[in-house]
Amino acid sequence: MLDQLDNIQRNALDSLAQVHDEPALDNWRITHLGRSSPLMLVFAGFGAVPKEERAAVGQAANRTKLALEAALADTASSLRQQALERSLAEGHLDVTLPGRPIRRGRLHPSTQQLRRVLSILAEMGFQVYTSPEVETDRMNFQLLNFPPHHPARDMQDSLYVDVPDRGDDQILLRTHTSPGQIRAMREFAAADPKNPPPIRIALPGMCFRHEQITARSEVQFNQVEGLAVGEHITFSDLKGTLTNFARRMFGQGARVRFRASYFPFTEPSAEMDVECFVCGGVGCPVCKGSGWLEILGSGMVHPTVLENGGYDPRRYTGFAFGMGPERQLMLRYRIEDIRYFWGNDIRFLEQF
Ligand code: PHE
Repeated sequence: MLDQLDNIQRNALDSLAQVHDEPALDNWRITHLGRSSPLMLVFAGFGAVPKEERAAVGQAANRTKLALEAALADTASSLRQQALERSLAEGHLDVTLPGRPIRRGRLHPSTQQLRRVLSILAEMGFQVYTSPEVETDRMNFQLLNFPPHHPARDMQDSLYVDVPDRGDDQILLRTHTSPGQIRAMREFAAADPKNPPPIRIALPGMCFRHEQITARSEVQFNQVEGLAVGEHITFSDLKGTLTNFARRMFGQGARVRFRASYFPFTEPSAEMDVECFVCGGVGCPVCKGSGWLEILGSGMVHPTVLENGGYDPRRYTGFAFGMGPERQLMLRYRIEDIRYFWGNDIRFLEQF
């Protein structure tokens, strides 16, 4: 019986050496390990083996079975390896197949609009000046003529940072880009305090307000601020610059109007509306029937603000304006919910 098992094993391994592909390997498995293979017949006839030999025969049969199974696994893996090498060597490459499309990224719609605004302002001579998103109460409010408890602060609910012992000068996330006006004027003036140079800058960036998040208000949004300071700058410069800006941004035919308004850091102050580009001024839901869309706040830089920036208000004047790229996009594309901007929904972002 033990000789027979030796023979079975030798036969099986000899014939495995002739196996060169998967179907042959499958046949080999059925012949040598299948239910009616010689080896399995040994197991089936186990009952007839004399008692004294059973242990030895059983162990030998199991050893043979393990040896054949291991040889089967080895051959299977080397066949797979050979198949892979063969296919690599043949190098099938069909150059007529269309290429896989490369998914190109794009800029966030707010960034795109921010850059449109900045490039128009750049053509008009406004250089980009960036200032911090985390500000002091002094920069964000006091030097802009909002003393503590000034009611105009109510328009800009603020997110304060918890820093002890700062009294009236708390740290907060800037609620608008206007504190950059003070920082810029001070930096320019420092170059030549007796004769500060003229300024023409654009201040872009994220602003934050402690708002309840709804379709119309978010806790963060971008602004672009403009500031021009120099000698003999008048309100007609403000009107001319902003009218020109609106035409470049909204089309040569865009009509604008200025409405008197109030900001603590400009005097006089005005809001600029552009004729509704959805209905052409007839009145529609986007302009709420008025025919006009409010686009920005503006005004002549308040003398106190000039002074705080190091510019003598008896010699210098200036104008400033602030606008929101997200608001412009919402009006332009009739986006009804501001939460889309920071919601990270690819279905929204891919439309721009
Ligand atoms: N900072 C003002 C706001 O956020 C906008 C503004 C900027 C108004 C510059 C006038 C001049 O509401």
